[in-house]
Amino acid sequence: MDTHALRNTLGKFATGVCILTTNDSDRGVIGMTVNSFAAVSLEPALVLWSIQNTSECFKEFTECDRYGISVLQHSQEALSNRYARPLEHIVDHGDCFVDSRGVPLIQGALATFSCKMSALHPGGDHHIIVGEVVDFESHPGDPLVFFGGAYSRLG
Ligand SMILES: Cc1cc2nc3c(=O)[nH]c(=O)nc-3n(C[C@H](O)[C@H](O)[C@H](O)COP(=O)(O)O)c2cc1C
Repeated sequence: MDTHALRNTLGKFATGVCILTTNDSDRGVIGMTVNSFAAVSLEPALVLWSIQNTSECFKEFTECDRYGISVLQHSQEALSNRYARPLEHIVDHGDCFVDSRGVPLIQGALATFSCKMSALHPGGDHHIIVGEVVDFESHPGDPLVFFGGAYSRLG
């Protein structure tokens, strides 16, 4: 199979962009840009995302008890690029806040989900991480959209 063509074709599915965050005992808060986020279930409240098996953050995100999902606003493209850089996942203090459950989240996001690890499933060169939503917030604004390998906006 032509994986380059497959990647391009998968890119025809427009998504939002999130930054996933968790606490690492050695490095503090770490963050990673992700567009594989999806809703799974309302009752119970479950969401999923997938992480590359080779990611430098793999151990932290697959072994943590809690993590945060922040859906980015259209104005937060620079943050998306910042936390997509390989091996540069330590979150700058000014970019995040910590919720009442100790979960780090990105400041100024369009929506946030405070999650508890629910399940981990192998999925080829990725692992699928299912989270139970413990808390969530949403704010007015336009989403950052990812389509055809580039950022876009609604409308
Ligand atoms: C828009 C966008 C979406 C991404 N989505 C994912 C994703 O769903 N899962 C993933 O593991 N990496 C995703 N990445 C890649 C990571 O953000 C990051 O580039 C990668 O983890 C860097 O390698 P490292 O983790 O080894 O440092 C995405 C990158 C971008 C720019």
